[in-house]
Amino acid sequence: MKKTKELGFATRAIHSGQEPDPLTGAVTVPIYPTSTYVQQGIGEHKGYEYSRVSNPTRTRLEQNLAALEGGVASRVFASGMAAINAIVSMLKSGDHVVCGNDLYGGTPRLFNQVLSGFGLEFSYVDTSDAENVERAIRKNTRMVYVETPTNPLMRLSDLSAISTICRRKKLLLVVDNTFMSPYFQQPLALGADLVVHSTTKFLNGHSDGLGGVVVCAQQEHADKLAFLQKAAGAILSPFECWLILRGVKTLAARMEIHDRSGRIVADFLSTHKKVKGVFYPGLVDHPQHTLAKRQMSGFGSMITFETGSLKNANKMLKQVRVCSLAESLGGVETLISHPATMTHAALGEKGRKAIGITDGLVRISVGIEDVNDILEDLDHALDGI
Ligand SMILES: Cc1ncc(COP(=O)(O)O)c(C=O)c1O
Repeated sequence: MKKTKELGFATRAIHSGQEPDPLTGAVTVPIYPTSTYVQQGIGEHKGYEYSRVSNPTRTRLEQNLAALEGGVASRVFASGMAAINAIVSMLKSGDHVVCGNDLYGGTPRLFNQVLSGFGLEFSYVDTSDAENVERAIRKNTRMVYVETPTNPLMRLSDLSAISTICRRKKLLLVVDNTFMSPYFQQPLALGADLVVHSTTKFLNGHSDGLGGVVVCAQQEHADKLAFLQKAAGAILSPFECWLILRGVKTLAARMEIHDRSGRIVADFLSTHKKVKGVFYPGLVDHPQHTLAKRQMSGFGSMITFETGSLKNANKMLKQVRVCSLAESLGGVETLISHPATMTHAALGEKGRKAIGITDGLVRISVGIEDVNDILEDLDHALDGI
């Protein structure tokens, strides 16, 4: 058998951490719904003492996700937000974080409305220009936090350029890789220290469980995060771990279809007379199309488009039948949403205006249904405008 690093992505997704159960030969990882473990004597046990600290189903998922992102280890949490909270809990009061200004709305909500009350400082810049990151660094800056592509405006940040700055200034670089999944983008290979995902999205892929993961390039960070799992307790249940282990087996196959259909839907939208603009890195007129080709191995299936007004967006969203009007993304089903009133409502009107999120924007996460059905559904819904 080849070493894990030498195996192809789809093989790792199915086999890393997912080896047959040594006790029975079961080909799927068993769910261990136990809170505690019998010990043979004082301090004598089989590696597991209490499930907040560790659980065998969780261990397997953590091995699998580390293998997919190319990290030394990963730690899973109860949701993407719990994972992000754990990352920032590695800092101390008085530390400063430079963040992208177009993040998933829940992230600045956590930073500004919760963590700044504990003395952490955050500033927000357009990280699509690496110089903005450098300019925002202060004496007390410890971390740079980016999403690429951003949510929902699909702006890219040059991870190699930003990681060069972070190395020089001795800052941790954290990348939220939820939109691309490790199948299309590998931030650790580009110099990031930590990669975070909402596993709720593409990694699980079936819209049936929440979760979050942090994948680490250095063991020291994995150890700190394991301590935070134990100390703060926002861990993922064995059943949810198992759902992700099952979902991730088809990640490579799903991402291929997501990407293929994403390109078709983006092309369709960009020529539709009712659509006033399309944000998708796979389009040649996307301002960072060249960077997208260099940094990612596919363009994915997240597309945002402009309908012109809240009224138009509402009219079209009421008409969809194959696409489901819902928060979230990355499931097998096509999910369509309205960032201004859903994912980015917490930013407030002023916050949204400052970064260009208009009331007419609609975001689509193209699923793996027959693409012609998705196109017909969108065409019909757009005709209603
Ligand atoms: C890019 C991104 N990061 C993080 C999160 C938060 O993840 P969760 O909803 O699992 O807490 C989301 C949720 O939509 C997201 O889109």
